[in-house]
Amino acid sequence: MPARWSCYCCVSLVFLLIIASEAGRDFYAILGVPKDAAVNQIKKAYRRLAKEYHPDKNKGDPNAEDKFKDLGAAYEVLVDEEKRQKYDRCGEECVAKEEGFGGMDPFASFFGDFGFGFGGGGGGGGREREVPRGGDITMDMFVTLEELYVGNFVEMMRNKPVARAASGTRRCNCRQEMVTKQLGPGRFQMTQQQVCDECPNVRLVNEERTLEFEIEPGMVDAQEHKFVGEGEPHIDGDPGDLIIRIRTQPHQRFERRGDDLYTNVTLSLQEALLGFELDITHLDSHMVHVVREKPTWPGARIRKKGEGMPNYENNNLFGTLYITFDVEFPKVEFTPEEREGESEEKGELVKILKQDSIGKVYNGLRGY
Ligand SMILES: *[C@@H]1O[C@H](CO)[C@@H](O)[C@H](O)[C@H]1NC(C)=O
Repeated sequence: MPARWSCYCCVSLVFLLIIASEAGRDFYAILGVPKDAAVNQIKKAYRRLAKEYHPDKNKGDPNAEDKFKDLGAAYEVLVDEEKRQKYDRCGEECVAKEEGFGGMDPFASFFGDFGFGFGGGGGGGGREREVPRGGDITMDMFVTLEELYVGNFVEMMRNKPVARAASGTRRCNCRQEMVTKQLGPGRFQMTQQQVCDECPNVRLVNEERTLEFEIEPGMVDAQEHKFVGEGEPHIDGDPGDLIIRIRTQPHQRFERRGDDLYTNVTLSLQEALLGFELDITHLDSHMVHVVREKPTWPGARIRKKGEGMPNYENNNLFGTLYITFDVEFPKVEFTPEEREGESEEKGELVKILKQDSIGKVYNGLRGY
C-alpha cells in the first residue's frame, strides 16, 4: 500500500474522531437503544449495563470506569424528558451548558448505597470485623399480573436518616464490664459498670432519595430484591438493607401457577354445542384467539402453549395458558312441541340431540 494513502487515512481518521468528540457522546449508542426508545426501555438498558460495567466487577479493565461514567451520563440525560429533548436538538454540549449536569448518581437509585449487593457472596466477610449493623427493612410491594408480564419501573421515595459529622464527641461502643472492689479484708464487691469509648460526634440527618425498583418480567411471588445500605441506619456502624418483596395482587381473569396461567370461560349451551370463536385479552392486551367447531362439555380444558407467563430466567420462554370452560344452560322453558313433538312424531330437541337416556348413578367423589 502506498505510504501516502495510508497516511491520508490516518489523518482523516483523526479528523473524524475530533468531529465525533466535538459533537459529544452518542448516548443512544452507549445505552444501545433506538432514538425513539420508551423511558422504560432506557431504564432497562441502563440497569443491565450498569451491572455489567460496574468498576468493582471489572477490576482489571482500565476502560471500565470510563464506560461506567458514560453510561451514567447517558442515562441521566435520556431518562429526563426535558434534557432528552435538548440533547436530541443539539447534543451533549447543550445539556451540559444549560444545567448542572453530571451531579446525580443514577446507579445508587437502582442498587442502593454501596451498590454491590449481588454476586459478591458477602455473607462471610462482614462477620470478622464485627461492625454493628442497622436493621434490615422488608417492604411488601404489591404488583399486578400485568406488571409481572411486561415489566415496569416503580419509583419510591425513601426518607432516610443519614449519619453526618457534627462537632464534639460522643460516647460510643458502650459495653457492660464487671468491676471488683475490695471493701475490707476478704470482702469484695462486684458491680457491673458501663464502659464507653469517645468517638467523633455524628448526627442523623433526614435525606430524601428516590429509589427505582424494576419489576422484571416473570418475577415470582415472594421474590426479594435488596437495596444495599438503604435500611435502618446504625450510629456506630453500617446501615442495614432495604428488602423489597414481591406480592402479586389477585387478578380478575387470570390465576398464575408457576409460569402457567389459568382462566375460565363461560359458554352458552348453544356455543357449547355448535362451536364458537372468541378472543381473550391477554395481560399485555394482545389477543388470544380460541376457535372450536366441536361440542365443548362443562369442565373441558384447552391449552395454549406459550401464552403463559414469561420465565424469569429466560424471558423468551413462556408457560402455558389453560382455559377451562363451563356452560350456562338456557333458562327458558321449551314448548311441548319442542320437547315431545306431536303425537307419534318426536320433538325437535330430541331429534337434534340424538341422545338416549343415561341416568347412571355413581359415586363421583371416588371417581367411579
Ligand atoms: C375454573 O377452572 C379451574 C381449572 O382451571 C377449575 O378447577 C374451576 O372449577 C373452574 N371454575 C369454575 C367456576 O368453573
